[in-house]
Amino acid sequence: MPLRDCRRIDLPKIKDNRGNLTFIEGGNHVPFDIKRVYYLYDVPGGSDRGAHAHKGLHQFMIAMSGSFDVVLDDGFKEQRFHLNRSYFGIYSCPMMWRYLDNFSSGAVCMVMASARYSEGDYIRDRDEFLKAVGAR
Ligand code: TYD
Repeated sequence: MPLRDCRRIDLPKIKDNRGNLTFIEGGNHVPFDIKRVYYLYDVPGGSDRGAHAHKGLHQFMIAMSGSFDVVLDDGFKEQRFHLNRSYFGIYSCPMMWRYLDNFSSGAVCMVMASARYSEGDYIRDRDEFLKAVGAR
């Protein structure tokens, strides 16, 4: 899928003096059914995570706390998104090379995914990815 299909998605925000509330419905606020949730936390400053692509997985990433950058790359062009609020996230399509960096201290990255974990869905080799998308 092309890079333009990946995008920032703003989520509903119910403002309240007692604290704000945001919700996410699979197939509604994110364009896939949510089958799995995982999160990255206690990330040491200066670390990078997630330099790989997925063959079929759709994902949605949110900064639940703190901030970090998500870089999405379709093999031809890359786009960097800064995530720093829990009421929006980045939708990442299949066949998109992606990594996360610039983590603040205490950052928590929550990821919603369209399928359960499967190592067979990963492309971890950059050259293999570039060949698969026709960029090499
Ligand atoms: P990985 O996706 O490779 O993380 P990153 O690319 O950010 O370094 O996952 C790290 C390890 O965690 C890897 O051994 C697979 C395992 N893992 C699961 O078992 N289930 C999951 O849902 C995820 C995302 C990872």
